[in-house]
Amino acid sequence: MSATESFEARLIDAIQPLRHYVLSINLYHLFETGLFASLSEKGSLSPAQIAELHGMDASRLRVFLGYLRNEGYLKEVDGKFSLSDQGRRIEEFRPWYTMLVGGYNETYMQVGEKLKQGSGWASRNLEQVGTGSCGISRHDAIPLTRSLMAKVPGKCTRLLDMGCGNGRYLVDFCEALPEIQAAWGVEPSAESCREAAQMIARHGLQDRVHIVNASAGEFLRSGMGIEPDFVVLGFVLHEILGQEGAAGVRAFLTQMVARFPDLHLIIIEVDQQMDSARAMQHGLGIAYYNPYYLAHPFTQQCLETQPFWEGLFAECGLEVVAKEYTDPQVDSTGLEVGYLLRKPRS
Ligand SMILES: C[S@@+](CC[C@H](N)C(=O)[O-])C[C@H]1O[C@@H](n2cnc3c(N)ncnc32)[C@H](O)[C@@H]1O
Repeated sequence: MSATESFEARLIDAIQPLRHYVLSINLYHLFETGLFASLSEKGSLSPAQIAELHGMDASRLRVFLGYLRNEGYLKEVDGKFSLSDQGRRIEEFRPWYTMLVGGYNETYMQVGEKLKQGSGWASRNLEQVGTGSCGISRHDAIPLTRSLMAKVPGKCTRLLDMGCGNGRYLVDFCEALPEIQAAWGVEPSAESCREAAQMIARHGLQDRVHIVNASAGEFLRSGMGIEPDFVVLGFVLHEILGQEGAAGVRAFLTQMVARFPDLHLIIIEVDQQMDSARAMQHGLGIAYYNPYYLAHPFTQQCLETQPFWEGLFAECGLEVVAKEYTDPQVDSTGLEVGYLLRKPRS
C-alpha cells in the first residue's frame, strides 16, 4: 500500500484494526450471552425465536446477528440464522476471548491514562482472567503439569492448586488421577471461587475438592491446616512477584518447602520475551503473547525470563527436577515453561 493509492484504499487498510477490535468484542458476546450455545444446539433459528428464548430485544438482536453474518460467523437462510463453518470452528478458542476481552478489555482501555507516572494500577476482571486462563490451560499448561507430575509416579495424593481460577485443574486432575485423595484450590477472587465451587459440584467432586478464598500468601500465613504433597502454581508466581516483589516470592517458596520438606512444586510461567524479534514473528507470538505481555505491567503482574526464575529458585535452595515446555503441536513458541521443583534430599 503506497501513499499514491486512493484515500479510500488507504482508509480501508488503516481501519482493519478497528474492524477486528469490534469483531473480537462481539464474538465474546456471542459466547457469553449463550447465543452460541443456542445456535449450536438448535441449529437454525429466527431472530424472533432467539429473542423469545433469551428474553432479548428482537430488533437489536436482528442487527447483532446480521453483523456476525456479514463477518462470516453466521449464515442466514430464509430469515433464520445458524452458525457457519467458520462460526463453529471458533468454539474451541473461546477461552482466549474470555481472557483477553472479558478479562483485559477494561485494562487495555486504561493503558493511555496508566502510562503516566504515579497513575496506579489499571483494573481487570479477575474472574474472567481466571476462567479464560484455565480454559487455555486445558490445551497447554494442564498437559504440561501432568507431564511434570508423571516424573514422580504415584506421588500425588494431596494436591494444592494456588491461584486455581475456576477450578479447572482440580477437576481435571481429580477425574484423571484416582490416587488424589484430597485437593484444595486457593483463589483470591470470590467470584472465581463461586465458579469453582459450581464446577466441582457439577462433577460430583465436593468430597474430594475444597476451595479457599484467599491469596497464596494469606493461605500460607493462616497455617493452612492441610498437608499437600504437590503444589501447582499455574501462571501465579508472576502475580505474587508483582504484588510482593522478589523478596515476597522467595519468602513464600522458602516457607512452603520449610513447612513441607517432601513437597513437589510445579510452576508454570510465560517467559518474558517481548523484545525477541523471533518470538514476535511467530503467529502466536504476535496474535496472543504480544497483547498478553502488554496487560501485565499495568495490572500489578511481573513476567520474567527463565534465567530470572531459575536464579530465584536456586536462591530458595530449590532443585529443578524437570523443566519442560508446552507441546509444540499446541504452542511452538517455546514461551510457556514448566518446572518441577523440590528441596534437595540431604
Ligand atoms: C492467569 S490466572 C491462572 C489460572 C490458572 N492457575 C491457570 O493456570 O490457568 C492467575 C490466577 O491467579 C490468581 N491470583 C492472583 N494473585 C494471587 C495470589 N497472590 N495468590 C494466589 N492466586 C492469585 C488470580 O485471581 C487468577 O485466578
